[in-house]
Amino acid sequence: MIVQLVRKGFAAFSLLLLAAVAFAANEVAVKSPNGKLALKVSVVKGTAYYELSRNGKVVVSPSSLGFTLRNAPSLDRNFSIARKAVRGINEKWEQPWGERRWVVNQCNELVVDLQETTKPNRKLTVVFRVFNDGLGFRYVFPKQQGVDSVIVDGEETQFNLPTAKNIWWIPVHRDNSFYESIPRYTSMASIDTVNTPATIETSDGLYLAIHEANLTDYASMTLLSTGVGRLKSELVPWRSTGVKVYAKAPFSSPWRTIIVAEKPGDLITSNIMLNLNEPSKIKDASWIKPGKYIGVWWGMHINKFTWGQGPKHGANTQTVKEYIDFAAQNGFSGVLVEGWNEGWDGDWVAEGYKFSFTKAYPDFDLPEICRYAASKNVKLIGHHETGGFATNYENQLEDAFKLYQQHGVNAVKTGYVNKYLDGKEWHDGQYGVRHYRKVVEAAARYGIMVDNHEPVKPTGLCRTFPNFMTQEGGRGQEFDAWSEDGGNKPGYTTVIPFTRMLAGPFDFTPGTFNFENTGRKGTRVQTTLAKQLALMVVIYSPLQMASDLPESYSGKPAFQFIKDVPCDWEESLVLNGEIGKFVTFARKDRNAHAWYVGSITNEDERVLQLPLSFLDRGKKYVAQIYADGADADWKTNPYSVDINANEVDAATVLTLRLAKGGGVAIRIIPKQ
Ligand code: NOJ
Repeated sequence: MIVQLVRKGFAAFSLLLLAAVAFAANEVAVKSPNGKLALKVSVVKGTAYYELSRNGKVVVSPSSLGFTLRNAPSLDRNFSIARKAVRGINEKWEQPWGERRWVVNQCNELVVDLQETTKPNRKLTVVFRVFNDGLGFRYVFPKQQGVDSVIVDGEETQFNLPTAKNIWWIPVHRDNSFYESIPRYTSMASIDTVNTPATIETSDGLYLAIHEANLTDYASMTLLSTGVGRLKSELVPWRSTGVKVYAKAPFSSPWRTIIVAEKPGDLITSNIMLNLNEPSKIKDASWIKPGKYIGVWWGMHINKFTWGQGPKHGANTQTVKEYIDFAAQNGFSGVLVEGWNEGWDGDWVAEGYKFSFTKAYPDFDLPEICRYAASKNVKLIGHHETGGFATNYENQLEDAFKLYQQHGVNAVKTGYVNKYLDGKEWHDGQYGVRHYRKVVEAAARYGIMVDNHEPVKPTGLCRTFPNFMTQEGGRGQEFDAWSEDGGNKPGYTTVIPFTRMLAGPFDFTPGTFNFENTGRKGTRVQTTLAKQLALMVVIYSPLQMASDLPESYSGKPAFQFIKDVPCDWEESLVLNGEIGKFVTFARKDRNAHAWYVGSITNEDERVLQLPLSFLDRGKKYVAQIYADGADADWKTNPYSVDINANEVDAATVLTLRLAKGGGVAIRIIPKQ
């Protein structure tokens, strides 16, 4: 006890000292455009720190900056501030597709040049951007004499969050290496190394999300807990050498981002990550088109079909043509087909090096399928499962994309099911980051959009490569087919909008209509039918899959909502939400005058009042409402759905009743 008190006393004393010395020392500051967030950068006894406050209250207390390097002295001490530069940025840019068409980029930038005061007098620049809703900063390692190759052993970036109370997190590399863990919600004291986005609630009522933007030729950042409320960047290493990053000067790190929000929904509508990525490198993006798709896919997950050859082979020309017919009849632009190529027979996870990306199985007639699809104005969505054998894929990349391009295939789903890439490296280390980028860049050259499963986490690169449409990187709806734990729990989808989704589009594959027809006994979809519709709005993906078998949709009036709902938005609003409990989105169609609302709850039923004040004043609309029936319940009566149409306007307040595990989906169109 005494020891504890002494320790605490010492900590408080050293903090005070730090503040006092910092004031007298080398120090620069900048505020957000609205003046609410204040950033201070200081050098105290040679160490550089940043700190962030909001309305005068500390959000990030002094947190160190710098690197440890291999074969060179660490670059985190003996600093002085050599120069600072401040500028305001205020611009608006248009997305080719997205959750909103226009993005405002307004912030104040502070560039701080640090220089070692002792030999070898190296330089390190840190660029900070302070937005109204958070902070981004990155290291820039300039070209300088005597420093060519840089081997990063560690990044000494701290995130000291004295008010952090609880956190939503997934562990690093525990369940697998591609983020498919169930998010935990614990106190800050009970975490181990966590992935980002990490979402935190503070004791003074704020919500923070730590993540990164523009992860390019670098290791992804995870967060190591070094004490309660004390996090530190822990870069994912090369497993072979333990090195974090191999770099050559000049280079920049990704941006470290901290969103600071008053309410959970503001985490979702923040544009910091996108704003910190570079503008599109694809000059003519007219071939990049969001769209809804179905797939010869769920059938494999529920054992109706097989990926490999045999009597149940799903990817056969006849079946695929039937899927194309269904897509054409119901307005889907694409049909994904998995299991079309050589390599699936046998244990494809262990033997992924056998995958060919150009040789189709004999019962899959690629040219004929593509011809047939084109005649129906539908496109085949290609599939490249690598089993994690990245090099085998890279060796075939050009030929694989050439083949698809030849046949008019303009989207591919890629996959990396395996604990390691090439049997040795993490998906989220520099090795994986390099590989995934290579694929996206090659795809762009062939006019192909990418939907990447088992990825390195998204960091907003879709801005720079708008053909990089969507990714997995979380537990998708496929877990409802075969997961040992029985499938995703009702509360799961009320967490991910505030965690995984902060990183960008998620190919979650909602829209399942048959809840018991799954692959493993005891596993099922744990939602109501109305919630499946609502998820088409809540979970954003510019390539949005309706996951179920065509026959599950036939004769179901609720399917009309899936046919109507778009996946490209003019604007997106979060109307309410509590993490892990409920959330309501309203999104405006980018190509028609219509709004779509999706509201979902966890295992608790609830009633929400929903003002429609986002509608144009003075206009009359019709709201087509797909609500849980009065007797609906995800467990006992999941299919009960009431479909009604009501006249509404901007003054209407709808009362939404969400059943246990339920939801509401609404299409609002102008009244004729
Ligand atoms: C895992 C993916 O998430 C899933 O969608 C796909 O069907 C399988 N891998 C096979 O590639």
